[in-house]
Amino acid sequence: MADRYAVILAAGKGTRMKSPRAKVLHEVGGRSMLAWSVALSQALGCRRAVVVAGPDASDVQAAAGRLVGADNVCIQHEQKGTADAVRAAEPLLGDIDGDLIVLYADTPLIPVEAGRSAFAEVASGASVCVLGFKAEDPGRYGRLILGEAGELEAIVEANDASPEALQIDFCNSGVMAGPARLMFDLLRDVRNDNAKGEYYLTDIVALARSRGLRASAARCRESDVLGVNSQAELAKAEAVFQTGMRERAMTDGATLRAPETVWFSFDTRLASGVTVEPNVVFGPGVSVGEGAHIRSFSHIEGAHVGAGAQVGPFARLRPGADIGADAHVGNFVEVKNVRLGEGAKANHLAYLGDGDVGAGANIGAGVIFCNYDGYFKYRTIVGAGAFVGSNASLVAPVTIAPGAYVGSGSVITDDVSENALALGRGRQAEKAGWAATFRSGQAALRASGRKPEGAL
Ligand code: UD1
Ligand code: CA
Repeated sequence: MADRYAVILAAGKGTRMKSPRAKVLHEVGGRSMLAWSVALSQALGCRRAVVVAGPDASDVQAAAGRLVGADNVCIQHEQKGTADAVRAAEPLLGDIDGDLIVLYADTPLIPVEAGRSAFAEVASGASVCVLGFKAEDPGRYGRLILGEAGELEAIVEANDASPEALQIDFCNSGVMAGPARLMFDLLRDVRNDNAKGEYYLTDIVALARSRGLRASAARCRESDVLGVNSQAELAKAEAVFQTGMRERAMTDGATLRAPETVWFSFDTRLASGVTVEPNVVFGPGVSVGEGAHIRSFSHIEGAHVGAGAQVGPFARLRPGADIGADAHVGNFVEVKNVRLGEGAKANHLAYLGDGDVGAGANIGAGVIFCNYDGYFKYRTIVGAGAFVGSNASLVAPVTIAPGAYVGSGSVITDDVSENALALGRGRQAEKAGWAATFRSGQAALRASGRKPEGAL
């Protein structure tokens, strides 16, 4: 198989969608559209992906540098069209021996199979292969002109199309593949004699045909290649993504009681037998083990939920939460960077941050891991089978050894030994008959028309 390379176009006019953030840095399914394109190039096995950014888009350049390395970011100095943008990558990719795929960074949801089918056409001899789709409303998309035998003859941009060509509903997704050297060679012949005065990448199809080379179109679904040019289209792409993820989760054996209310990220993984109640949000980096039950209104990101565990309702799992098998995290419990051992429980109103809770430990209502002094963070360790009473504050760094008890309402600042009881609170005192004496004294005062000092 020929080596594969990718050029990802992220420059261009009108790339802000009226937002201070660059278009391609807007997110779908919890990651930027630019990152979607880079992930696709990686899934296709590309040896190298080069991102073409605009000269003023320092945010895009920086994000691209993090994704593909600064050496693989190049600048298109003037936005003169998509052909010109690909040519901006020539200094980096002009000498390579392999096949090149062009991806538009405003088209996030392209399935790996679609990219593979474009490369496969090139492997079987096509000089250019374009991914095409039947558009519900072809609108401003470029139209694919096919010959008698179904081969691709040309792409005509909507602005330049004749009324007959505008009737065509087979459209250009923007994904195009071909042998790298040939593509750069064809690009040299592209002219800007069109309605927009731009250098169109799409012109290389007709140029290849005029050299007697074969061009082809691979087909995909419209929902696979939604191009995002506005905030409304961004929301549409997000909706398509969410629908797909919900369907996949259910196909893989998860029960979603109200699928339309469950929010997924690009990498959410639910094992079979997981139940998700209505109104749950999965941020990036979540995996949920077999048979776990996620109750309503839980917000989970960067976390693992073990098999058979129960989470929520109203639980918040933040990055680094690792909930063991059969553990319970109940309502209004926040967990961050804590491993909760097998069968451990924190059922109500707690903050567990930066620590480790052993198997079978019980964290009472209102327990707080005091992990931060305003400058640094510290760990709290609770051993297996320990019992931390309600409303205890564990001031980190601190260790509660296995099997120990912490009395309710304690403020624990020192380590607690195995199987001990630790109390860190005022001792209870009792004054016999105090309440009755108090009541009769106050009643007498009120009847006399006087008040205790300071009373209103
Ligand atoms: C383009 C295609 C059109 C296709 C549609 C699919 C061309 C000429 N037209 O139209 O056939 O149906 O995508 O969504 O290719 N870009 C640059 N530099 C430039 C111009 C554009 O980097 O000078 C980048 C943009 O950031 C974007 C991509 O190329 O990621 C496509 O450009 P855009 O202006 O959105 O093209 P469309 O009009 O949508
Ligand atoms: Ca576009």
